[in-house]
Amino acid sequence: MTTTSEPADSPEILSVGRSGPLRGSCRVLGDKSVSHRALLFGALSDGVVEIAGLGRGGDNVSTARALQALGVRITLDGERAQVVGVGLRGLRAAGRPLDCGNSGTSIRLLTGLLAGQAFETVLEGDASLTRRPMRRLAEPLRQMGATVDGRVEPARPGDVFPPLRVKGGALRAIRYALPVASAQLKSALVLAGLQAQGRTEITEPAQSRDHTERMLRFLGAPVTADPSRNLIVVDPDGWDGRLRAMPITVPGDFSSATFLLVAALIVPGSDVTVENVGVNPTRTGALDVLRAMGGELTVSETGEAMGEPVARIRARASRLRGTRVDGTLALRSIDEIPALAMAAAAAEGTTVFADLAELRVKESDRIAALGRELGRAGVAVTEQPDGLSIEGRAGGELGGGTVIPEGDHRIAMAAAVLGLCASEPTLVEAREIATSFPTFAATLRALGAAL
Ligand code: S3P
Repeated sequence: MTTTSEPADSPEILSVGRSGPLRGSCRVLGDKSVSHRALLFGALSDGVVEIAGLGRGGDNVSTARALQALGVRITLDGERAQVVGVGLRGLRAAGRPLDCGNSGTSIRLLTGLLAGQAFETVLEGDASLTRRPMRRLAEPLRQMGATVDGRVEPARPGDVFPPLRVKGGALRAIRYALPVASAQLKSALVLAGLQAQGRTEITEPAQSRDHTERMLRFLGAPVTADPSRNLIVVDPDGWDGRLRAMPITVPGDFSSATFLLVAALIVPGSDVTVENVGVNPTRTGALDVLRAMGGELTVSETGEAMGEPVARIRARASRLRGTRVDGTLALRSIDEIPALAMAAAAAEGTTVFADLAELRVKESDRIAALGRELGRAGVAVTEQPDGLSIEGRAGGELGGGTVIPEGDHRIAMAAAVLGLCASEPTLVEAREIATSFPTFAATLRALGAAL
């Protein structure tokens, strides 16, 4: 049985109980990262772009609304969208602040784009977004010639935070070494670089997800990458300035799929297949981690969408053991750490997550949030500045309780997944889940979960 297109359900409170085996085949909505890029690059293209498989979580809607406010005609119809591209120079001043909601990718990529547009824009967001650091973005864009200001916080001197004010104009190319491996930052600078005079070179300390490079190359943009040096070059010299309007198909969201895979691995007797999942190797560290933990996973590549590999992934309940996640593996698993932490809680032995200081500045401080939620469930956790160690409770009891994810969709989903194995009910404040995976509860329910 394939369960598809369940209605988006985002109840305020999700009540999760211990579940029998999860079984069946399912789909996830379109990849959130790829969907942002499809909307943005479609808006900059030279014609009408049809998008299939678009993610319809709140973050992607934030990008679509912001582009509409900038004068782009976008029709959203479930998982399909039509974007009427206005070209690189066709955006109009919005005349009001752009609300990026909970979405770091929206605010950072839009800021890079607007750095080259000769008008002023204010970008704002919800309480979680308003706490996220933006100096890493403002600094290189200022060096390129844009004005980027933000709110200052006395407690975090030297940084700036949303709301951001961007006044764009003529940009000059830069050579820039990113202080952290970040696809949001890299993509923002690529968008600025496309509008700049000269050759922009961006290096990062390690390779972050490369959806931007893949899609822009597909659309004819002068972007090249040398992954062996973590180098991206944008050289608009001799380019006609046009992004080709082409149909875009978005693969299923790997990050959403990981919650289902972890649920299947930790709920005894489960056997779940997720169809049509994007498996870009810069994203799939979680598969390597779960396999190292003894997880029985089968990945069958089924095709490609816009240069992104796509696969069917099957997970069967497994006896998991602790492992270590650090270095590039940690980077390739960055958004999956909340789900992986739940696998670690259900495993035998200790799992150590390290080199993950960036988790402190995601939708919430995820290191603190995971420590709090695992502690509530009775799991022993030691926090470090850049990670955490988790003592697995294989064979032991997991507690329940009430989860307040503080604006973080992935903390809410991770806690719900662990609740499927807990001996007491878990109540999850679930509004945020719709940010990335509005069909989360319905999909798990269709697989047999008690929630
Ligand atoms: C994203 C990049 C990552 C990731 C985020 C989505 C993207 O953030 O954590 O969920 O779509 O570019 P950073 O760029 O901050 O690492």
